Amino acid sequence: MSKVKLPYAIDQKLQEDAVRLKKEDFRNLFHNSDRAEEFSIKWQDFFLDFSKNHIDKTSWHNLQELLTESNFHTIKKSLFDGDEINWTEKRAVLHHALRSFNERTVLVNDKDVSSQIKSVRELFTDFGDQFFQGTRKGHCNETITDVVNIGIGGSDLGPKMVVEALSHYKGATNIHFVSNVDATHLVETLKKLNPHTTFFLVASKTFTTQETMTNAHSARQWLVDSLGENSVGSHFAAMSTNLEAVKQFGINPENVFPFWDFVGGRYSLWSSIGLSICCSIGKRQFLDFLAGAEAMDHHFEIAPTDQNLPVIMALLGIWYNNYFGASSYAILPYDQYLNYFTAHFQQVDMESNGKSTNRDNKKIEYETGPVLWGEPGTNGQHAFYQLIHQGSKLIPCDFIGFCQTLNPLSDHHSKLMANLFAQSEALAFGLTATEVQEELQNSDISISDQETLLYHKVFDGNRPSNTLLINRLTPSSLGSLIALYEWKIFVQGVIWQINSFDQWGVELGKKLAKSILTEIESG
Ligand code: F6P
Repeated sequence: MSKVKLPYAIDQKLQEDAVRLKKEDFRNLFHNSDRAEEFSIKWQDFFLDFSKNHIDKTSWHNLQELLTESNFHTIKKSLFDGDEINWTEKRAVLHHALRSFNERTVLVNDKDVSSQIKSVRELFTDFGDQFFQGTRKGHCNETITDVVNIGIGGSDLGPKMVVEALSHYKGATNIHFVSNVDATHLVETLKKLNPHTTFFLVASKTFTTQETMTNAHSARQWLVDSLGENSVGSHFAAMSTNLEAVKQFGINPENVFPFWDFVGGRYSLWSSIGLSICCSIGKRQFLDFLAGAEAMDHHFEIAPTDQNLPVIMALLGIWYNNYFGASSYAILPYDQYLNYFTAHFQQVDMESNGKSTNRDNKKIEYETGPVLWGEPGTNGQHAFYQLIHQGSKLIPCDFIGFCQTLNPLSDHHSKLMANLFAQSEALAFGLTATEVQEELQNSDISISDQETLLYHKVFDGNRPSNTLLINRLTPSSLGSLIALYEWKIFVQGVIWQINSFDQWGVELGKKLAKSILTEIESG
């Protein structure tokens, strides 16, 4: 348990709840109870079962109190009103406005930017659709077959995750991602490509990021070496807020797609930074993707807190982080298409909530953002699940699965889902010494070996998890799923009283790398 209390009156009761519930066995909690109904919620084609958690009516009620005491409702309203809730950078937080199709005004410094958002959206989705359709031609009039997105962090992870997740819906063009400043990443990617049929997207909010600029210049040279200086205009596009730097790089102004400071890098896949997604799945499906996210925004904005998916998941995260001493949690998607889902949310969560200075600019000592990790099931089962089941650490897990598969091949999907349910059941209910004993007695293992094995085969159980089931992986349901996790992170940041939208902790390393580079280059 975190030794340092959260600064709320309800904290004392929550500490007591935690002491009481740690002693409760999940088997008892479930015995003759309707908790599976009580602690589950359906929203559109999402179903969240959060019954396998250390909660009861009282603690659940007390956890909701954190929202009132932290002024969650007021801060949420400020966010939707476009106030500068990112106070250290003096910026509004309006990435959600990029996925909105309603007529609501979006005020930034008293100016309505909603029509600007919509016209840029039209421009970059029309542009991207040409690649999806396979109609875009390069300098020598050959059809573009490959798009390389050059970016890093939020200008790479989010788009890469979505392109991979929606590869079932892809069109005519292949999308590649280059992020690492290690030349190997670019060289190995370009080895497979033909300059005549390759198009580059330079994705960078600031257009100053060392890795991205280095890769972009080398990619430009690769193109120019084959097709000459004049080819750059028809093989490069840029997405950025820094239009002056884009101009200096020499990108054809027709291929430049802006976005704005009120969109944080790790939340920018909804902006023109998502152009690679649009090149892959086309305009219509990209708009479905945005609409799915908008539906979740609406749910988050209006649903009562005990019926609100992001709020529920946020409170459970706080519960384990601050009252059960869990310092990490795992996202375990049972779908190969979500291969990069956890990696993307590692950035969104850890860069957002890895902070220890509060709203009053004071150092805080209670626990804030946890370490996030995970891999798609079932691969993780054969790698690190041992520790989750029998290790000494408490690791709350989110299992994510889809009821229908996009690849109905023999019984693969039934087996995949059977594994998902088996894992959450094993974590929750474990295997008692009596059950192990019975199992061993019915085997041909010698008595002395049975005695040894007994203690190793026991599963304590009482290990918490959420199970999130979604009907089918579509652009729309993926949009909703991403927005769900984004809002969860926001709610937690409010309760921890931190700024979830700046990232000062990445600056020192960047600065030092620059001066060390000068030292290396001067021998
Ligand atoms: O180093 C962290 C970071 O600033 C992220 O927040 C951001 O997503 C990434 O770098 C890339 O920044 P840019 O889009 O400006 O190149």
